[in-house]
Amino acid sequence: MSGPKILVIPGSLRSGSHNVRLAALAGKELVLAEAEVTRISLADYPLPIFDADLAREQGPPPHAVNLKRLMGTHRGVFIASPEYNASITPLIKNAIDWISVVREAGEAQLAVFQDRVFALGAASPGRSGGMQSLIALRQVLAVGCRALVIPEQITIPNAATAFDEMDQLTDAKAAAQLKTVARRLVDYARLLR
Ligand SMILES: Cc1cc2nc3c(=O)[nH]c(=O)nc-3n(C[C@H](O)[C@H](O)[C@H](O)COP(=O)(O)O)c2cc1C
Repeated sequence: MSGPKILVIPGSLRSGSHNVRLAALAGKELVLAEAEVTRISLADYPLPIFDADLAREQGPPPHAVNLKRLMGTHRGVFIASPEYNASITPLIKNAIDWISVVREAGEAQLAVFQDRVFALGAASPGRSGGMQSLIALRQVLAVGCRALVIPEQITIPNAATAFDEMDQLTDAKAAAQLKTVARRLVDYARLLR
């Protein structure tokens, strides 16, 4: 039996992004946990800043519809979330806001955030490893979108030196925690099948 499909989303477009690295590593751990992984870049889904008038007059942009439908074909989602001013990046918030207003005919509001499970990670050059970004993202997803977000998460402090030349985590405890997050996400996703 094939493993559950997990979508991996890095919340940064920056070249050399620590969170893109974290997302890549999370993808590898998810594959080791027998998930079928899709890793995307939000650069492939460019969206205007959310505008309720635009949404009402023209409907959500095709990239928002595609992103929402892609999410709907996966049982789990891992988001690697950079920290900007003690919160999430506009890139992630904007994508979630657009996804949250895409509805197929007869579909309940926010349905795409249900029936699947989310796990979070962050990497930051700072000492807290993006913890406040994850607190904010957990609020957006669990409270705002009524999504199931697993308690296990991974924060990578001092991200500039946290990865070796093979893009592996140098800290053994952080590496073990990422493995735990990946396994728990796959375990929950299997339960939802
Ligand atoms: C506008 C802005 C605000 C930031 N605020 C924080 C912050 O509050 N806490 C933190 O740890 N890092 C902060 N940073 C630093 C980012 O964590 C750092 O740029 C990181 O590399 C971004 O993630 P990325 O490497 O995946 O692009 C901020 C960066 C920017 C551009």
